[in-house]
Amino acid sequence: MGWEYSEKTKQLFLDAVHGKPGTHLGEIEDPDGLGEHGSVACGDAIRFTFRVRRHPDDPTKDVITTARYLTFGCTSAIAASEALCTIIEQTERTPIEALKITNNDIVQFLEGLPRQKVHCSVMGAEALEAAVFNWAQKRGVDLARLGVTLHTADQEEGRIVCKCFSLSEPYIRRKIKELNLHTVAEITGAIKAGGACASCHHAPGGLQDLLDETWGNRDLKLKVLPELPLVEPVQAAAPPSERVVDSPYQFSKKIEAAINEHVRPMLQCDGGDVEIIDIKDTVVYCRLQGVCKGCASAQQTLRMLIEQTLKDRVDERIRVIGV
Ligand code: FES
Repeated sequence: MGWEYSEKTKQLFLDAVHGKPGTHLGEIEDPDGLGEHGSVACGDAIRFTFRVRRHPDDPTKDVITTARYLTFGCTSAIAASEALCTIIEQTERTPIEALKITNNDIVQFLEGLPRQKVHCSVMGAEALEAAVFNWAQKRGVDLARLGVTLHTADQEEGRIVCKCFSLSEPYIRRKIKELNLHTVAEITGAIKAGGACASCHHAPGGLQDLLDETWGNRDLKLKVLPELPLVEPVQAAAPPSERVVDSPYQFSKKIEAAINEHVRPMLQCDGGDVEIIDIKDTVVYCRLQGVCKGCASAQQTLRMLIEQTLKDRVDERIRVIGV
């Protein structure tokens, strides 16, 4: 499946993986604030750290001067994390003021994100919140007394609604309201819940039930649309023997097209390039050229740009190996 990213998203991603000056991929040693969100097992995770310029008398007047992130995720996760750090550094905010940055601000900075990738911007905002909580603990700031409510992981423990992504009922309920989510597809796009096996969509106490309870739709739906079938027909997946499988030639053509269209122009902007050396099953052997060849970020370019693009656009099983 392919995603249409904005030029800004693609450029931020490429700058980050190339470690261009002014980008923020990395981690601050002994930070003033550290927050994490997501998990590698679920496919997306971010670790966000910041450094403040400490106010000598009043820690609530500390100002964030530096922000860094490490992320395990796709193009949009990296670009969204870059956006978050840039917004924070450019606007010189206290940690409490930084909480005003929403996932919408991040999406706007990126000049849009595919609906299915909005969760990448939500992840950054959640990690920022966790980092501010950590800063407040270290600096002895009583956030509750200041009227600032943060949602810690402890507070959001509860019944797990989406087992594939380990997301609890309190967390999903909060995000439905905060992000004004009205359909299961919107929930999946925003926080990934329901994005794998789909068994949590219509299970009792599942995503649809949480939506109905939140927005009070259940009675309305039954009264206004009594003729609607309660169970949507499920389209059976074609048996393996009937699935359309690319021939090796077609597969290699798709890979070539994805690289020509979505990878090569980015690399060439920076004086680099890539050559496909061989393709065996789903393993693609590539050689970086030009400035990319000796670049310190060559491995990241292979993994995070080339492999991720091919996974997104051609086949999620693809692995890229540099030769
Ligand atoms: S349980 Fe939610 S997607 Fe599988």
